[in-house]
Amino acid sequence: MDHLALEDHLALESQLALEGGTPVRTAPYPAWPQWDAQEERALLETLRSGNWWAPPGNQVHAFERAFADYHEARYGIACTNGSAAIEIALRAAGVDWGDEVITTPYTFIATAASCLLVGAIPRFADLLPNTWNLDPDQVEALITPRTKAILPVHIAGEPADMDALRAVARKHGLVLIEDAAQAHGAMWNGHKIGALGDMGTFSFQASKNVSSGEGGMILTNSQEWAERCWSIVNVGRSPEGAFYQHVNLASNYRLAEWMGAVLRVQLGRLEEQTERRLANAAYLAEALSVVPGLTPVPGDPRTTRNAYHLFRVWYDPQAFGGKSREAFSAAMEAEGIPMRAGYPEPLSRQQVIVQRSAYIRQRLGLPAQEPDPCPVCEDVCRRGMWLYQSLLLAEQSDLDDIVAAAIKVQRAWGG
Ligand SMILES: Cc1ncc(COP(=O)(O)O)c(C=O)c1O
Repeated sequence: MDHLALEDHLALESQLALEGGTPVRTAPYPAWPQWDAQEERALLETLRSGNWWAPPGNQVHAFERAFADYHEARYGIACTNGSAAIEIALRAAGVDWGDEVITTPYTFIATAASCLLVGAIPRFADLLPNTWNLDPDQVEALITPRTKAILPVHIAGEPADMDALRAVARKHGLVLIEDAAQAHGAMWNGHKIGALGDMGTFSFQASKNVSSGEGGMILTNSQEWAERCWSIVNVGRSPEGAFYQHVNLASNYRLAEWMGAVLRVQLGRLEEQTERRLANAAYLAEALSVVPGLTPVPGDPRTTRNAYHLFRVWYDPQAFGGKSREAFSAAMEAEGIPMRAGYPEPLSRQQVIVQRSAYIRQRLGLPAQEPDPCPVCEDVCRRGMWLYQSLLLAEQSDLDDIVAAAIKVQRAWGG
């Protein structure tokens, strides 16, 4: 950032907006989702085609092909949403009542809830502080005879350590499923994520970097996993079977043609938007170095490309007069900067997860178990903050306002 411009900006006003001062910024950041006449045309064409159903159509099929190709995967199976995608992948992998799945405590609840919804017990390994992703050593330490699968999340668009996790999964004969709901287009060690494990799941919910409001996808390189997922998505049919022949017990998880039509256009924007987010994230990380107490998450040097669904920072209350991250978030919000506190507690302590896990253990006659301790995750839940991906689509001068607001609050509170 231009240092003089920053000083000029700060000289204008030192009273926090929270206390009646003038906010650093009143203009909105880029809205999300973004669309134009291409999505309108795709939707109208689908409407007028008279075919709104995916099986005989070409919108969802074409999107499955394009999304799989983009992620260097052989097969893509679209489904209703990212939560269902995880459940489908777990079911395809044969994860069942009483099995254990090792996952991360720092994610949206769907990751762990999906395990419980297929009857499995999620076990929570702690995080690496430099990525907020699963620590592979902690994963290995949690393996028991009940463990069936490992379910890492590429949190915020930062890939988990897939080299180490693949090695652990192979060594112990476990299925490896990537929850890539936040990581469209991310790359680990030179390769796109999504089919680096056995299966990978994605979300196209409204906030995601590729969106149709709702939607999901499973990627895999295995024909066997692909056919199992396809069957579960399609009410238990088999690809070659008759219409009323059902070889598996399953529900209907199909996506409608509308979504396929919009997603095809949205996918076409992903590469350019991802590159823009990357460049802006690098600029912002550098610019934030002048703010005491805010440290961008450094990431793993083997991350070839962070998808930046979220731009994450460590917040140090010491530098802000001991104020909590929630107080800082409120002050930033008042200055016109939507910088939010991250997940509030590790999933290992969320009551619905704890209670359902206890219920399954009880039904199996297993002794009660304390929540898995996750001290690094506890720290992230106290001090972790983020900015949404759409802010990184702004101009660099808009990002300067984030730094200006943070300095303003830091000077007011931290001296
Ligand atoms: C990491 C993660 N997993 C799973 C999901 C669930 O996706 P959906 O909202 O499409 O069900 C989300 C999104 O909200 C997510 O962020």
